[in-house]
Amino acid sequence: MKILVTGGTGYIGSHTVVELQKKGFEVIIADNLSNSSIDVIDSIGKITGIKPLFEKIDLSEQEPTKDLFSHYPDLNSVIHFAAYKAVGESVTMPLKYYQNNLCSLINLLREMESHGIRDIVFSSSCTVYGQPDILPVTETAPIKKAASPYGNTKQIAEEIITDVSKVTAIQAILLRYFNPIGAHESALIGELPLGVPNNLVPYITQTAIGKRDFLNVWGKDYHTPDGTAIRDYIHVVDLAMAHVTAIERMLEGKNKQKVEVFNLGTGIGYSVLDVIKSFERTSKEKLNYKFMERRPGDVEEVWADTEFANRELGWKAERGLDEMTLSAWRWEQRLAGL
Ligand code: UFG
Repeated sequence: MKILVTGGTGYIGSHTVVELQKKGFEVIIADNLSNSSIDVIDSIGKITGIKPLFEKIDLSEQEPTKDLFSHYPDLNSVIHFAAYKAVGESVTMPLKYYQNNLCSLINLLREMESHGIRDIVFSSSCTVYGQPDILPVTETAPIKKAASPYGNTKQIAEEIITDVSKVTAIQAILLRYFNPIGAHESALIGELPLGVPNNLVPYITQTAIGKRDFLNVWGKDYHTPDGTAIRDYIHVVDLAMAHVTAIERMLEGKNKQKVEVFNLGTGIGYSVLDVIKSFERTSKEKLNYKFMERRPGDVEEVWADTEFANRELGWKAERGLDEMTLSAWRWEQRLAGL
């Protein structure tokens, strides 16, 4: 079975390629390398013994996308990760986000339709729920008005896929990620943020390795037990495995609707201080941090109801917080040549 993985050299994409290869899938990666490195291909090869095929291509351009599908007429399914993902940048450069994230999806769907490729797994986000009224949040919770153009591209993309599925053979599984962190146990692949990280765990590991002076903890006056915000952190390898399960579900015809939606989280909420404590425990490093004002746009707390994914998808996140923070630390150490 041949799977096209767009954004396959990126953080979640690369871990998914490894899990696909381990299950015997043949993978073609399409990525424009705008936020990833070509070295990832070799690292994947070192982990699995198979170097995936790679096409450097910008999927927001129609002609190259057409050529890609003509070149691989026997693709079975698509996993679509390729997208910009910096929430703050999307607020200052909305057109960049709408153009890239939506045009690439439209081009892909058009080619899938004309080549009779039926299945797509799409990277969505728990950001579609905003601050949910009821926790844990289920897949049927209302979609809230997006807080950023980035979040809006995820909502619109879900709608585009759903509309297209109604009038074509295309079927989809939309995976709403909570907060992916950690790295592969080999420490050969992991998250590679460009410049100053926005996300908590890369900021923690970069501070501990000495690249940053201290971590800003955004807000200590939330209505949570320790006053810091709560998220559902999920190990990137668990997340990657869910994509393989989703692809298999559609290939085996086990999906029950043209478009299915699953939350991908652990079902456990941890505060920023919980993550810091876990990091200090597993790395045996003391982290420098300061409390600051809340970060605009942040929700107070969100964690997943995973019952539907556990029961219906037959997938469950297995790795705990300490394994997540330790693997992220090993990856940061490897980047530093330690
Ligand atoms: N945080 C800090 N200091 C930092 C970075 C983050 O205290 O330097 C805090 C945030 O305020 C938040 C928590 O750590 O409370 C997690 O923040 P992240 O930036 O790691 O993750 P977010 O929950 O803000 O964002 C993630 C993804 C987005 C996605 C969103 C959906 O990065 O792509 O979840 O809720 F849209």
